[in-house]
Amino acid sequence: MLVFAFITFTITGLSYSNLIRSEYVAFAQPPSNSSSTSSSDNGLTDEQIKVSVIQQYELNKRLVASDSPLDILAVCSNPLHTNESAVVLVSENGPEGTLARIEFEWFGLNTPAQYNPNILPYPPGAAHPYFGLARQSLGNGGIKHHELVYCDMNWGLSKGIGRRILKCMTETQKIKFPEWRSPNGTCLWLPYLEGANGPSDPRVFFSPMGEPLMIVGTNGIRNCLSQYIIDLRMMIPDLGEKMKVGHLPIRFRELTELPRDYYHEVEKNWFVMYDDKGMGFVQHDIENRSMSALADVDRVTVAHVENLVKGETAPNCIATLKKEYEEINDQIRNDIHQGTNTLRVTLCEFPCIPTIHNTVLIELFQIKYHSYLEVFYRRYVMVMNATAPFQIIGRTNNLIYAGSDEKMMIFTVSMVWDHANFRRHEPWNEAKYGGRTIWDAMEDQEVDEYENSIKDFTEDGLESSESSDSGSSAPLDMPELKDQPLTSEMEAAAKYPFLYNIPIHRNSTYKNPLANEYYHGWLDDTIILNIGINDLDSGIVHVKARDLLACMTVCK
Ligand SMILES: *[C@@H]1O[C@H](CO)[C@@H](O)[C@H](O)[C@H]1NC(C)=O
Ligand SMILES: *[C@@H]1O[C@H](CO)[C@@H](O)[C@H](O)[C@H]1NC(C)=O
Ligand SMILES: *[C@@H]1O[C@H](CO)[C@@H](O)[C@H](O)[C@H]1NC(C)=O
Ligand SMILES: *[C@@H]1O[C@H](CO)[C@@H](O)[C@H](O)[C@H]1NC(C)=O
Ligand SMILES: *[C@@H]1O[C@H](CO)[C@@H](O)[C@H](O)[C@H]1NC(C)=O
Ligand SMILES: *[C@@H]1O[C@H](CO)[C@@H](O)[C@H](O)[C@H]1NC(C)=O
Repeated sequence: MLVFAFITFTITGLSYSNLIRSEYVAFAQPPSNSSSTSSSDNGLTDEQIKVSVIQQYELNKRLVASDSPLDILAVCSNPLHTNESAVVLVSENGPEGTLARIEFEWFGLNTPAQYNPNILPYPPGAAHPYFGLARQSLGNGGIKHHELVYCDMNWGLSKGIGRRILKCMTETQKIKFPEWRSPNGTCLWLPYLEGANGPSDPRVFFSPMGEPLMIVGTNGIRNCLSQYIIDLRMMIPDLGEKMKVGHLPIRFRELTELPRDYYHEVEKNWFVMYDDKGMGFVQHDIENRSMSALADVDRVTVAHVENLVKGETAPNCIATLKKEYEEINDQIRNDIHQGTNTLRVTLCEFPCIPTIHNTVLIELFQIKYHSYLEVFYRRYVMVMNATAPFQIIGRTNNLIYAGSDEKMMIFTVSMVWDHANFRRHEPWNEAKYGGRTIWDAMEDQEVDEYENSIKDFTEDGLESSESSDSGSSAPLDMPELKDQPLTSEMEAAAKYPFLYNIPIHRNSTYKNPLANEYYHGWLDDTIILNIGINDLDSGIVHVKARDLLACMTVCK
């Protein structure tokens, strides 16, 4: 049996509310070679990990009992925040904190502009830290033809005054992209789109397994413009090797039309979401929300797909962002545009145990305001439940990247975790930080405790339920943890049997289904936002998930 040092409760002074705040020092520390009794290379002793597991257990009970876990998890430490404040994001990737430009040209003069950038980090030890891909458009008598270019990238200086930019370190290459015409008569809005347009609006992202995937638009098979998915390793042969994902099977070997029960004339900006079991789903629209299962894709031909979610209107927290303009005569319209791919975020700091109650999916959408005098975008994070059908549970306010201004046409194209270059902790270690065994045991205990459906986790509710709970394996007549430290090992063993009765196998083969190196991260991990500027240029910012999700609005 493992000996449990209760004294750590009072020494550390941690409380579970700190699990979700930046001042949660213990877990935010970078790996150190501490010579303490620690068996952990993250600087945490076994005792600290156990205290943390108990705190998380207590927090998890509150999350399970809540109708809206996000109410408990959302943090706003900015005293000046109002419901209309922008979220001003300062980039981590350079000393000035400003949005950095990306240059794809390779000793090029008079090359076309590259926009819709997608940057992915290579694993540590690669020759260059980033892979970059962007769209370029070539004019042809007013009708544009689109192409995709890519290269390996690193930080460098602009030619003029030496601004810090991300630039190509290898020659810019063009992707060989299959092209065809849309069926005659399908492009009623803009008939010229029927001709082969080439690829538009690429979104490159990792699946939870690490497949580098691209969603991209081009001519339709049955409509004017449609949305396709392909494993980028099919178009860039050495990418798998360089990303160290060469061993993964390739599922999308050719441009594969994404499923929808009914295709509109022009489809754009779809994104994929992965649930807690790793199943993929495609979201087509936020307003009149529409979604279907990625598993229903069968090569290039798609059978009729029943939408999982159909006709659900956007929650008020998003719908009300569409505003009447001041000068009503000037108004054309404003649209909600889906923007980026999705990522999975656990709303506490490493190594808190990811669960479906503390973990969400995020995606950036934009509202495009059109008037006769100006067009501009505002950007927001949409926060969704991590399990299908991915209920929308929150959003942030307008994101402003330091170094840009509101009138620049800033479109956030895609995002990716930059664990390779910015992560300050080791990868998730199931056995060390609370293996699945422990978590399962907690959840079993929880089911026992919550059989009587406690809705209000008040002190009174807790006490009355504890004293009347005779079916549980644990005699729950303990005082509240945070009020009064436990005094005997026996009492703790009774309250938290999972720490004592379940052997912690260091060689555990259990895997937390939410944690992985590609799709998932914690609040203290860093996200790359890839940004299109005025449909002419590309930019990048690096932000902590914590900053991105500060002061969010919980959608009711
Ligand atoms: C930690 O250990 C590694 C490998 O043993 C060593 O290279 C490094 O210098 C150590 N760091 C500190 C801060 O002691
Ligand atoms: C912010 O709150 C004020 C006052 O309650 C309200 O009038 C306004 O519409 C709100 N703005 C947004 C964007 O929700
Ligand atoms: C479709 O339109 C193209 C260009 O106008 C034309 O060359 C082609 O014959 C048409 N195909 C059919 C089946 O009508
Ligand atoms: C919502 O989408 C369905 C098709 O999925 C369509 O039939 C319906 O008209 C749409 N409703 C609105 C209000 O746009
Ligand atoms: C997500 O939904 C599941 C199932 O309804 C729920 O148990 C969980 O608490 C939710 N998570 C959040 C963060 O809202
Ligand atoms: C794990 O280790 C224990 C003893 O250290 C051993 O009995 C057990 O068979 C191991 N399990 C696996 C799956 O390797």
